[in-house]
Amino acid sequence: MKIAVCPGSFDPVTNGHLDIITRACDLFDRVYVAVLNNPEKKPLFTAEERVELLKEATAHLDIVVCEQFEGLVVEYAKRRGAVAIVRGLRAVTDFEYELKMASMNHHLDKDVETVFMMTSTEWSFLSSSAVKEVASLGGDISAWVPPCVAEALTKKFVHASTEL
Ligand code: PNS
Repeated sequence: MKIAVCPGSFDPVTNGHLDIITRACDLFDRVYVAVLNNPEKKPLFTAEERVELLKEATAHLDIVVCEQFEGLVVEYAKRRGAVAIVRGLRAVTDFEYELKMASMNHHLDKDVETVFMMTSTEWSFLSSSAVKEVASLGGDISAWVPPCVAEALTKKFVHASTEL
């Protein structure tokens, strides 16, 4: 059984992430979508919320398991029996960051390969941070995220604006 890990912040999951997760399902027998729980970062959604949104957005993909992880991604991958870490590449600007991570992970554990997929051009401009910014300013993000995320963003920002 070939197992892969798709790690990320997923704050929140976008259609770009879903593109990569869906295509990873064509290459592997099981795909763990792993949300980094990093207490030092200040995400918009808690790790639990991010996992719940991912579960809803990937409910149709039988071989996907969504959960959170802490610590090194290669150690998490080892615990899950994964042979690969799957990452999406949107543009040249992603390359340096991804090269650094892939090289560090390779140094830490040579048995876990990093596999890059080019994000479909349709989503090449998309990022969680841009989605959050547009949503926070009242823009329409419904074409860029699954419906559960659009709803969750609306709730977050309506709540935030009523608190002001
Ligand atoms: O969606 P992101 O924020 O680009 O994901 C980054 C992530 C979670 C894949 C990366 O920060 C990570 O793997 N963190 C876990 C700590 C780790 O293993 N660091 C060594 C590789 S730099």
